[in-house]
Amino acid sequence: MTWHYSRMEGSYDPLAALRARTDAREAAGLRRRLVARRPGSAMLDLASNDYLGLSGDPRLADAAASAARAWGTGSTGSRLVTGTTALHEELEEALADFAGAASALVFSSGYLANLAAVTALAAALAPPDDPGSVLIISDAGNHASLIDGCRLATRRGRGGGGARLVVTAHNDLTAVEYALMTRTERAALIVSDAVFSVAGDLAPVAGLHALAREHGALLLVDEAHSFGVVGEGGRGIAHSAGLAAQPDLVRTITLSKSLSGQGGAVLGRPEVRETLIDTGRSMIFDTGLAPPAAGAALAALGILRENPELPQQAIQVTKRLAAIATHLGLCASEPTAAVASVVLADPRLAVAAQRTCATHGVSVGCFRPPSVPESGACLRLTGRASLTEIDLATASRALAAVRDHSRIPEKSGGRAP
Ligand SMILES: Cc1ncc(COP(=O)(O)O)c(C=O)c1O
Repeated sequence: MTWHYSRMEGSYDPLAALRARTDAREAAGLRRRLVARRPGSAMLDLASNDYLGLSGDPRLADAAASAARAWGTGSTGSRLVTGTTALHEELEEALADFAGAASALVFSSGYLANLAAVTALAAALAPPDDPGSVLIISDAGNHASLIDGCRLATRRGRGGGGARLVVTAHNDLTAVEYALMTRTERAALIVSDAVFSVAGDLAPVAGLHALAREHGALLLVDEAHSFGVVGEGGRGIAHSAGLAAQPDLVRTITLSKSLSGQGGAVLGRPEVRETLIDTGRSMIFDTGLAPPAAGAALAALGILRENPELPQQAIQVTKRLAAIATHLGLCASEPTAAVASVVLADPRLAVAAQRTCATHGVSVGCFRPPSVPESGACLRLTGRASLTEIDLATASRALAAVRDHSRIPEKSGGRAP
């Protein structure tokens, strides 16, 4: 590719570089566009992470409104200054109690919870006399927030050496074991999604924990897509494996998916919570979770407790969506949570397929690099507990059209929504 840097009054034009990059993404089918949802849209939603269908629930809206009235619309400061209210404490107790954890620490997003957990735990695990002596083992399919946490943790700071990072092949326990066995570092942190966000497959959490225990490592699992969906009443994968109370297991969750709100949390022993309060930069230097979001999450958790069948309903609906796609001849995953993916060979094909679904009244996710490995692409369908037979029939028609009509556009014009 040729880069044209035009000169603007004798100096380089930085925006020309940006435009050239944008044109290159356009040609590769990698443009991304923001599409505003409108109230009352008739589109069938198979794209959101609203797994339990609570997003429009008036009980959550009421809880958010009364939290705003009681505590204000924002938390007014970092959690360490003015950003912790009694509502935050109540939410943390409720989350820990539900998940069988000793404690919880709430963040303003799941992304920031992961950043804090990886960086602060890696730094704290390292021996004080040898701050670079920590190995992080990260699954190749991990979410960007874990990846970014790993990248930050490997940087050398004022305190000394950063961690060493090994990225292991997806769900490869042998590779994890090899990395642990051959390490020269004294400490190790294993990091993995529990349900992988695009493909929707499960991590071998019990196997990872057994390896962590055997090799004196700490295991961090991100239950963003399993909390509220997988396991007894939606308590997640670690809980269903009987590991909820283990001292060498830390969980992160988001409040933005099954709980239909906003925010994140780290679940673990009090030592973990104290480490993050003292050293988690994305907690210390970020405004605390907004009270309405805390109130809505508490209400959603209450609904989940009262309706323990909702998570299973979401999974069953997702299995049916995948079965429909497979029956139509598409290459669909076998879901064990509420995410199903349909693999497509090319980003432009995925964009065209997403548009085809939209013309049939169905909104689906379209994942292209860097959300998936280079050159791959897929549609991502999410199930919701509230989907009906009519919804499934609509989905079936849209997927049949994908099979019949999606072709790579002749020109480069695969425009992302
Ligand atoms: C696996 C995973 N972890 C973390 C996050 C970040 O959570 P949040 O959206 O609350 O920042 C997401 C999704 O957005 C995710 O899919």
